[in-house]
Amino acid sequence: MLFSWCSLGALILLPLVLVLALLWTQTTGDLDRNSSVLKVDLSVAIRRVDRRFLSVTIDASLAAEERFMSLLSSPKVRTLAKALSPSFLRFGGTRQDFMVFTPQGVRQDSGYPSCDRLQLPVWPEDQLKKDWTRQQLTLMREDLQGKYRRVQYTEYTVDLLHSFTRCSGMDLIFGLNALLRTANNTWNSSNAAALLRYCESRRYHMSWELGNEPNSYEKKAGIRVDGNQLGRDFTRLRAMMSRSKSYRHAGLFGPDVGQPRDHRADLLEGFLQTGAEAVDACTWHHYYVNGRDASLEDFLDPEVLDTLAFKTKEVLELVSPEKPVWLGETSSAYGGGAAGLSDTFAAGFMWLDKLGLAARLGLDVVMRQVFIGSGSYHLVDENLDPLPDYWLSVLYKRLVGPEVLQVEAAGEAGRRRVRLYLHCSSRERYPSGAVTLFSMNLSHRPVRVSLPARLSSGSVEAFVLQADRPGEEGLYSRCVRMNGDVMKMKDDETLPDMKGARLPPSEQLQLPAFSLNFFIFTGAGAPACL
Ligand SMILES: *[C@@H]1O[C@H](CO)[C@@H](O)[C@H](O)[C@H]1NC(C)=O
Ligand SMILES: *[C@@H]1O[C@H](CO)[C@@H](O)[C@H](O)[C@H]1NC(C)=O
Ligand SMILES: *[C@@H]1O[C@H](CO)[C@@H](O)[C@H](O)[C@H]1NC(C)=O
Ligand SMILES: *[C@@H]1O[C@H](CO)[C@@H](O)[C@H](O)[C@H]1NC(C)=O
Repeated sequence: MLFSWCSLGALILLPLVLVLALLWTQTTGDLDRNSSVLKVDLSVAIRRVDRRFLSVTIDASLAAEERFMSLLSSPKVRTLAKALSPSFLRFGGTRQDFMVFTPQGVRQDSGYPSCDRLQLPVWPEDQLKKDWTRQQLTLMREDLQGKYRRVQYTEYTVDLLHSFTRCSGMDLIFGLNALLRTANNTWNSSNAAALLRYCESRRYHMSWELGNEPNSYEKKAGIRVDGNQLGRDFTRLRAMMSRSKSYRHAGLFGPDVGQPRDHRADLLEGFLQTGAEAVDACTWHHYYVNGRDASLEDFLDPEVLDTLAFKTKEVLELVSPEKPVWLGETSSAYGGGAAGLSDTFAAGFMWLDKLGLAARLGLDVVMRQVFIGSGSYHLVDENLDPLPDYWLSVLYKRLVGPEVLQVEAAGEAGRRRVRLYLHCSSRERYPSGAVTLFSMNLSHRPVRVSLPARLSSGSVEAFVLQADRPGEEGLYSRCVRMNGDVMKMKDDETLPDMKGARLPPSEQLQLPAFSLNFFIFTGAGAPACL
């Protein structure tokens, strides 16, 4: 669909939702079972995540037909990407293991093209957008049949990815094909070597991965690769990188295993025995539900949200504590997302909760599948318009710093439906000592949250995200309001202002139903954030 649901929604909205947007009251009240007291520890950070914690992916399927890579030269897409830096951009996914670098060797120009003066795309944007819709159906058919054709890509894909990330302030991670195997089932590195040589000749700054969800190679390609062998393949890649002037100190991440299922984590265990030394971070993938049968209830279910914690603990137990653990690819629903949910306001609960929980549990980077292209879990839709999760991500980038603080909602009341996370505020925008509380209210039941003195004595900056329509119907909206205003770009090169609302000191927090909220306590003077 090429029209924007968001502008459509904006026409029919009622001014009265504005009233709902901010509820900040001075009410006091006795503690009852519907209220809960926040307990915070501002003295020390329990963890510190990577400064690129919130990162994004582009699925390799975008390059299955190379001209679609031109979408990345759209000025609008670049504007949207810039607002998410610093971050990693991981290029990978199922099709990375079917891609073969086939250089054409024709280009003569040297050096980087300027970021201000972008090379014009070879394909007109409107045509591309239209054709992409058709291409998606082809890709989806392949996925359903589990039959993947080999894809050749040229310098064009690599050049575009590099210029896109460099000009947006992102760090490129390129996923190499691990399904190129020799007769004795070791990795055939000759194609990767050709790519490394090319990237080195262009002096491209980037890091690497090898293989995507190797646990399902048998299903995807009828080839079985065990963890030990994969670890040796990584060691081989690391040796190749060590011999390269450009990639001697570059990052290598892997093995990008799917989430542990049925208490089995064989592949990861085997990999770590032989490959742990080769990687800078251990990556795994996580999705909550199957996109084909996911429901709105799943997206709002605290039990579903909590499954991330169990899976994360399983992985952390296997990996040595010195090795960073990353979510190398993650989203709400697998199989391309749940259309009508993964691309709507409803998806924000899984996304914000994942960001909060992952940092608290000990994951250093979370890469969201996907920034653009592929399926319905994208941040930027097929019309190149940002979706609610995009705006949520930008706010997170601007407001939340890397230091994680302890916060707990004491008392039973709505504990599971009101979810809260506390970090130091981003130093780029806030004074030292400031803290950011982010929270979501998944309920229609009344619950109050009381603030400790340290947080209730100063004024607060609030960013309250809600759907553009109230009630459950609004959850299906592709539009989001922040403090009452519909979020949309001013033009292709300008994002809206995104100013918070100043609130007077208050002893209680009120979070509207089905809302995603950020509160900045600028004067908290948290010792952990000085
Ligand atoms: C708590 O909320 C429930 C559900 O709304 C309500 O029935 C009950 O009276 C409330 N209890 C108190 C003590 O306010
Ligand atoms: C690796 O792949 C290349 C290119 O397809 C091929 O020429 C070479 O013989 C392969 N090497 C091995 C050991 O299989
Ligand atoms: C497998 O084949 C590769 C390339 O032909 C060779 O370098 C390697 O030693 C072989 N490994 C084993 C275990 O035979
Ligand atoms: C969550 O939303 C419900 C419904 O509007 C409200 O009654 C409740 O007080 C909210 N919870 C918090 C902690 O503000």
